Amino acid sequence: MPSTTKVIILANPPTGAILSDTFLVQNQDLPPLEDGQVLLKAIALNNLPAQRTWMDIYVPPILKGEVVRAPGLGEVVESRSDQLKVGQQVSAFMDWREYKVITPEEIMGVAPPGSGFLALTALGVNGLTAWAGAFREMDLKPEHTLVVSGAAGSVGSCLVQIAKHVVGCKRVVGIASKGKCDWVKSLGADECVDYKSASFAEDLKAALPEESDFFFDNVGGEVLDEVLKRVKRFGHITVCGAISGYHGKPLQLTNWREVIYNRYTIRGYIVTDYAKDFGQAVGELMQWVQEGEIKVDKETVVEAKFEDIPKVWGRLFTGETQGTLVTKLV
Ligand SMILES: NC(=O)c1ccc[n+]([C@@H]2O[C@H](COP(=O)([O-])OP(=O)(O)OC[C@H]3O[C@@H](n4cnc5c(N)ncnc54)[C@H](OP(=O)(O)O)[C@@H]3O)[C@@H](O)[C@H]2O)c1
Repeated sequence: MPSTTKVIILANPPTGAILSDTFLVQNQDLPPLEDGQVLLKAIALNNLPAQRTWMDIYVPPILKGEVVRAPGLGEVVESRSDQLKVGQQVSAFMDWREYKVITPEEIMGVAPPGSGFLALTALGVNGLTAWAGAFREMDLKPEHTLVVSGAAGSVGSCLVQIAKHVVGCKRVVGIASKGKCDWVKSLGADECVDYKSASFAEDLKAALPEESDFFFDNVGGEVLDEVLKRVKRFGHITVCGAISGYHGKPLQLTNWREVIYNRYTIRGYIVTDYAKDFGQAVGELMQWVQEGEIKVDKETVVEAKFEDIPKVWGRLFTGETQGTLVTKLV
């Protein structure tokens, strides 16, 4: 068993953009394996915009000097547990560590052999976020129209597919950057609107001739501001994320009065509030992947050396990714 592991710590918590000295690669001692524990080697990591919020506002936040928190896929390389065997792959909070000692209770799931990165994509945090968004926060029905921002992202692309192929929503409109809109439509969206276009406001209006019952927002800021004018009276807005403001850009709204005129219900949403339903969610998501209702064939998988983990994660904020961004460690 190795006695040390490479880790990446939050050396200088960011106040805005990520800088060259935000993260630091270190070697840390590994504790000896105790009865019941296993040693995992990181195979792949999930990249979540939420990790940026964990670096400042989240409870508990990642503190200066702590290893960066991240879900991932690890392979059992040593085991003193009856429940896990060497060679099994499991999803767990691997963090930005090459090796991690954990107990089976900390494992989120055992990846079935041959399931690739499914535990990080449709069955991972973001698949669960789309599932609970659709069935717990919004309770989508076939008669509903839904708008999804960040529609080509990990949560968004899964939600578009659930809404259209599983629920059968009347109309699903994605919002994404231009180069990704064809893909969003291929996933089932009836329309996809480029939020960077000068004609965004008119295009959104044209895509929603009867306005929308629900808006599932991953982005915040200017996109949210525009959609505030396109939700039906008494409509619902689920605030899942605000990626446009994660690096400190002020999230400004000019159409806030629409909330009053239209009696909107706006609710913040955190997926872990529905943790008790995750077993059901994973079962259903797995079934929909097997039946083809949810496709996970166009995810962004980037092979990277351990030291380049932060660089790959940074791609989330530059629009280079499609679907779930997975770092495959080489
Ligand atoms: N509340 C919860 O429990 C929960 C759980 C999971 C995720 N989330 C949130 O859900 C959102 C989506 O997460 P995800 O993991 O699926 O990420 P993601 O959508 O895969 O993130 C990457 C995509 O976001 C878009 N983006 C990046 N910067 C942007 C900006 N300034 N303005 C608009 N779009 C931008 C880009 O797509 P384009 O090229 O199309 O712009 C990029 O490809 C995030 O805000 C995340 O924090 C919340």
